[in-house]
Amino acid sequence: MGICRDNEMNCEWYEDWFDSKYYHILYGNRNAAEAEAFVDKLIDFLHPDKKARIHDLCCGKGRHSVYLSRKGFEVTGTDLSSESIQYAKQFENNSLSFFVNDMRRIIRVNYFDCVFNLFTSFGYFKSDKDNEDVLKAVYTSLKPGGVFVLDFLNSEKMRSTLVGKETKEAEGIVFHIAKRLEPGFFVKEIRFSDGCKEFKFIERVRTFSKADFKTLFSITGFHILHLKGDYQLHDFDEKTSDRLIVIAEKRG
Ligand SMILES: C[S@@+](CC[C@H](N)C(=O)[O-])C[C@H]1O[C@@H](n2cnc3c(N)ncnc32)[C@H](O)[C@@H]1O
Repeated sequence: MGICRDNEMNCEWYEDWFDSKYYHILYGNRNAAEAEAFVDKLIDFLHPDKKARIHDLCCGKGRHSVYLSRKGFEVTGTDLSSESIQYAKQFENNSLSFFVNDMRRIIRVNYFDCVFNLFTSFGYFKSDKDNEDVLKAVYTSLKPGGVFVLDFLNSEKMRSTLVGKETKEAEGIVFHIAKRLEPGFFVKEIRFSDGCKEFKFIERVRTFSKADFKTLFSITGFHILHLKGDYQLHDFDEKTSDRLIVIAEKRG
């Protein structure tokens, strides 16, 4: 595994960190039960056709994809992390497939009924064009009338509750996490040692607000249907909501 130390190896933080075993150790609490409860809420709310084609964009190890497939949908999970996709492939069946793809790349045209991008899997790119390219690729891949769900953090609340430093212990590793705000980005610096090796990883996520998403979605051609603020799908409130979940439609 290549380790990006402050991008000395010329790789972007998201190429390296999500592919490392330490990411999964640190966030091991992001479990299947949480994913399944959210999928149930979303499906109850959206009512897709029983055989709908759903793309889990940035699926990680496939926790949402697997459950969507169990509910009877035709599911494609894609992610940049080859380690995660390799793991997810054990769950493949006739109506569930996984493959490695960069979210900026178009994988289908007028094909999916729904695209889900869940758990802050957006806003990783420095350039606006790259972030727009993701929305364009999603738009192209949806059928007219298809729905895109983008589940992001609520930047306004995050800004006011940003904790400076914390320490988390998982599987015998002590992670020292420092959070800070840089212009346009939430930055998390994660340091730890494993055996005699020292590691440092960075997470860098854009501080996109409700207004930013409204602009991004409208320039891509999407029509925003709903803004939700948590995994129970309560309405979004900029001051109090934990999440910003954009539900948008490709108008035919
Ligand atoms: C916060 S994780 C969420 C994973 C999954 N949605 C879940 O909830 O378990 C973000 C995911 O985005 C993936 N990712 C990062 N950059 C990507 C890119 N450029 N294209 C596709 N996937 C990417 C990572 O590999 C990682 O699996």
